[in-house]
Amino acid sequence: MQSLFDLTSEDPNLDGFFALAKSGALSETHSTVCAALLEEKQHHLFANWDPVGTRDADKFTFLDSLLQAHQSYPGGLPGYIRNARKLLAEASAGSNPFDGCTPAQPDIIDLSDFGPGYDKAEATGLKCLSETAIVLVAGGLGERLGYNGIKLDIPVETTESTTYLAHYALFIRAASERIGRKIPLIIMTSRDTNPGTIATLKAHANFGLAKDQITILRQELVPALSDLAAHLALEEKYRLILKPHGHGDIHMLLHTSGTAAKLTKEGFRYLMFIQDTNGQVFNAALAAIGVSEERGYDFNSIAVNRVPGEAVGGIARLVKAGHPDLTLNVEYNQLDPLLRATVSPEGDVPDARGYSLFPGNINLLVIRLAPYLKVLEASGGVVAEFVNPKFADASRTTFKKPARLETLMQDFPKSFTSGEKTGVTIFDRVWCFSACKNNLADAAAKAAANSPAESASSAENDFYLAGRQKLRMAGMTVTDGPVQTIRGIPFTTGPRVILRPSFALTLQDVRDRISGGSISGDATLILDGDIHLKNVVIEPGATFIAKSSLGTSATHTDTTIPAGKTYTLHELTDAEMSSPDTPEFLKIRGYRIDPPAG
Ligand code: UTP
Repeated sequence: MQSLFDLTSEDPNLDGFFALAKSGALSETHSTVCAALLEEKQHHLFANWDPVGTRDADKFTFLDSLLQAHQSYPGGLPGYIRNARKLLAEASAGSNPFDGCTPAQPDIIDLSDFGPGYDKAEATGLKCLSETAIVLVAGGLGERLGYNGIKLDIPVETTESTTYLAHYALFIRAASERIGRKIPLIIMTSRDTNPGTIATLKAHANFGLAKDQITILRQELVPALSDLAAHLALEEKYRLILKPHGHGDIHMLLHTSGTAAKLTKEGFRYLMFIQDTNGQVFNAALAAIGVSEERGYDFNSIAVNRVPGEAVGGIARLVKAGHPDLTLNVEYNQLDPLLRATVSPEGDVPDARGYSLFPGNINLLVIRLAPYLKVLEASGGVVAEFVNPKFADASRTTFKKPARLETLMQDFPKSFTSGEKTGVTIFDRVWCFSACKNNLADAAAKAAANSPAESASSAENDFYLAGRQKLRMAGMTVTDGPVQTIRGIPFTTGPRVILRPSFALTLQDVRDRISGGSISGDATLILDGDIHLKNVVIEPGATFIAKSSLGTSATHTDTTIPAGKTYTLHELTDAEMSSPDTPEFLKIRGYRIDPPAG
């Protein structure tokens, strides 16, 4: 690469910039990135600079932002610009990424009805847990939810108000205890979520996890692009427009930070990728890891059965002559036309059970580390980028607004080249996925359209439903209450059941610790630690909380817990909803659960 001074331009617009450079004020790293950008024909970034001495602080802030973007992208800004030119040219030409592909059903293991393979898969997964690290992607802005703060701080349930991060940590602690090895937790944050995540970890002493158990990887924003030549877009002179690059950054960061290589060296074999607000994930994680192990999957997507046309990406095996098959998430609005143009003139049609052949992607992934590392090393960590410019003209040459390269974590298989084995494990939806993504109004509109609400309230509802499901599977009689609609979102009343990971990691654990008994009505049951219930009847309006500390256990036999002081759900009034005294985590649900009085 040429030095900055070899690049001195005839262009008088650049005089201000070169005057600053020649004054010796630029550091070597600043000079290097500027020279690289000028070589990539990014002269506009340095045009019409004020004379030395005017707005110099703004100029250096700008240079720092260029340097930051340069250093955080493998291949630096020139790499980003070249990738962008190629992808933008393809977008302008209207090339279809699925050209020549025929969708076929992927390799599926369906555990949605907890069939005979379920327990075996869970047992296998439990054995593999000591070789598994958890990767939590938590850099998202959560614009649809509109919560003021990080999503990890939102309680997944409001009986004991356990936040998502505390809930995940409870699983990791209990599992680490069980297997005798500290399970690593890698958290991807972003500029928006990093300070809040660090503050929360600090305020709660890492939720009991060891300091060396947690790795934080911060994703950076990438520069926006104003045209097909990939000129970096300016908000104004000395200010880049920066935008999120997407959750696929996790792959890049696991590579560039050396974390994937380090975990491999330490003997870890799997990564389990989870999202910031899905309290259900650890109901299904062990069985999914077990399926990866049993089937030899290098890339295993936890998925749900989906009805044709449902607005969730479908996972399809894409068959193309002369290429290895590729199992990928295809957005639902692309899947139907692709099917119509190839194998199914009617588009995405239901099978005998009413489901699409293409299961719904929910972005929970189990990835085998060895092939993962190989792909990361071969690609330098930048995997499966795409660009989605909104063109302003019919000739597809100008943009309505600046575009940027993006990457999605589920697209990783696009980078597979050596016949890596991909598969899909389907679980019951309430069991594996119920995220808190939407504000109340949008969630109510979704519920009205018969779609999952994915609100704080539906997530809490499903949290209790999964607890009840576990009790039922252990043989307890569980009676749901009627469905109540709270601010337009259905909530199945009935017992609030919280089974902590210290009580049970697997379904077999639940069966080993509970037999007989019943629970119904507005009762509350919380089990934490080595607790056994034999024929325990928990009556409507009763509260039964049993906790035992590590190394101790307790058994309750042939007991009836009568109604008494209990937790009660109250819908918030309009005045409470608009009151500044009502905490935001309650406003996003529309109710509160009051603890027993006295
Ligand atoms: P979501 O689809 O929930 O997106 O991300 P979001 O960005 O958080 O929410 P909206 O779209 O603004 O409403 C799925 C997961 O990916 C993470 C999120 O934190 C969540 O766990 N994510 C998303 C990142 O880590 N980085 C990103 O750039 C985007």
